[in-house]
Amino acid sequence: MKAPTETTVFDCSVLELPRIHNRAGNITPLENNRHIPFEIERIYYLYDVPGGESRGGHGHKDLQQLIIAASGSFDVLIDDGTNKRVVTLNRPYYGLLMTPGIWRELLNFSSGAICLVLASTEYDEDDYIRDYNEYLNYKS
Ligand code: TYD
Repeated sequence: MKAPTETTVFDCSVLELPRIHNRAGNITPLENNRHIPFEIERIYYLYDVPGGESRGGHGHKDLQQLIIAASGSFDVLIDDGTNKRVVTLNRPYYGLLMTPGIWRELLNFSSGAICLVLASTEYDEDDYIRDYNEYLNYKS
């Protein structure tokens, strides 16, 4: 695997997740190392995001994540210090796989959106880079 200082936005990808379709509704099951290329250590979800607010605005050194719009939609702006991409998540059966070392911002949340995040490590503030200039230094 690339060092987090070397990763680019093109190492992040949108995965199509399994979908078990039924007339009474759908199920998307996710299993460690089968649908997700890391062991899940933590799950968290963002909700009740007021209109116009953005979240994120940081990078992670080691953390891998799969970001899913479990309900509604939002955009994820990913940035490696050189390239930027905007990924719109608007279906619960797509997930954005975030490699380590990528800056991200989450914005344009629809009303009622739920951002479900599967994460490869427990919460660790030392893994965050919260200052953009510090992030650019880290990547250079
Ligand atoms: P943060 O990751 O900065 O939120 P976002 O990227 O969505 O804007 O986290 C916000 C606060 O929540 C911060 O004080 C840390 C805390 N937090 C935890 O305690 N555990 C967690 O798993 C997460 C994601 C955040």
